[in-house]
Amino acid sequence: MGVKEDNMSKNWTPTSWRSFPLKQVPTYADASALAAVETRLASFPPLVFAGEVRALRSHLAEVCEGRAFLLQGGDCAESFAEHKADNIRDTFRVLLQMSIVLTYGAKLPIVKVGRIAGQFAKPRSADTETIDGIELPSYRGDIINGIEFEAAARQPDPVRQISAYRQAASTLNLLRAFAKGGYADLAEVHRWNQDFIADSAQGARYENIAHEIENAMAFMAACGITSASAPQMGTVDFYTSHEALLLGYEQSLTREDSTSGGWYDTSAHMLWIGDRTRQFDGAHVEFLAGIKNPLGVKCGPSLEADDLVRILGKLNPENEAGRITLITRFGHENVEAHLPALIRKVEAEGCKVVWSCDPMHGNTIKASNGYKTRPVDSILKEVQAFLAVHKAEGTHAGGIHFEMTGQNVTECLGGAQAISEEDLSSRYHTHCDPRLNGSQALELAFLIAESIAAK
Ligand code: PEP
Ligand code: CO
Repeated sequence: MGVKEDNMSKNWTPTSWRSFPLKQVPTYADASALAAVETRLASFPPLVFAGEVRALRSHLAEVCEGRAFLLQGGDCAESFAEHKADNIRDTFRVLLQMSIVLTYGAKLPIVKVGRIAGQFAKPRSADTETIDGIELPSYRGDIINGIEFEAAARQPDPVRQISAYRQAASTLNLLRAFAKGGYADLAEVHRWNQDFIADSAQGARYENIAHEIENAMAFMAACGITSASAPQMGTVDFYTSHEALLLGYEQSLTREDSTSGGWYDTSAHMLWIGDRTRQFDGAHVEFLAGIKNPLGVKCGPSLEADDLVRILGKLNPENEAGRITLITRFGHENVEAHLPALIRKVEAEGCKVVWSCDPMHGNTIKASNGYKTRPVDSILKEVQAFLAVHKAEGTHAGGIHFEMTGQNVTECLGGAQAISEEDLSSRYHTHCDPRLNGSQALELAFLIAESIAAK
């Protein structure tokens, strides 16, 4: 790689980020209470294991080489209030449905990564929020403070980190059971279509694919191949991810692997760095440079190609495939203006990356009735523009990163259900950004599957 700047501090440790400039940091009233929580967290069991993290990295290396596709999605922000088995199951099954649509249409293995089991901390554009002349700290996610607009709730409370850890552990426990315990068996392909999705146009298209898969499986069973004889038909590999924003929490869960000796952040398999915290000399880049997990880097319109290459030199000095996923989020009208320059520079430097598209964060608007929303149309346009640019540049459009829920919410405008501004208020439940509901998420999967199949 041309710009190979190994500027990770020479003596990286899980705490070295503390001497670098830190953005998006909550102000805790009691530093010793925070330190006590971090010490407790550091003694808790890891949530994920180094071997799993390495397995994800090798799957992402396949994406990097153009032989697989990354599907990464889930909540914008998980919340303590919404911690329910049904919510976890419904998110998981929509991701399974999307993955079926993509595998079937694109004929590529799909690497499945949830924004789940730890996606709690949120970056904010302002430190405070003022309503009716009252100014309070901004809500930064349930791991930090409460969403209620009350002084006590908005006070950052370190004990919330313990609750977030416990919620992540129990969410992950259920996900592991779903992934390996029979729920994800291909023989169940019909059962993943929940009622409100099955009634939509996308649900009907999904049913057709499910029928064809069932026919193919009946044929294979007659040949002696079932999930009993071919275990990969009966289980899926499912990985977790979140934004590595609250570095004290991430540090506390970072452990040295006893077999390989490297440092792993055991809070999730994959961590990403947000568009607001990706400064080359900042604390977040410093922390992530030293852990072995696969890393995402959000790339918004303000990112210059030269800066990106410097950041890549720091995060991936050995230029390993599968280490870095660039998650571009420009807004549907800005893809052509920004993406080709980044691709050309990254290609010219020979940096190995997975290119993924986040069509959510550049397409947020305010509806006339005040709701923060996203038009499905803009989301689909950003994905189309992303696919078209990669086609023109000859690079692999490797993945998609999106905010969704398995619930039948009304947070994003349009889609086949034609959700209108008036509909937004009926089931608007998000704790942060507007999410695709199950049928809108499936619509996205069909669009991508068709585009890849047509390549
Ligand atoms: C997010 O993914 O929820 C987020 C805040 O994204 P970005 O950093 O790209 O704005
Ligand atoms: Co978001």
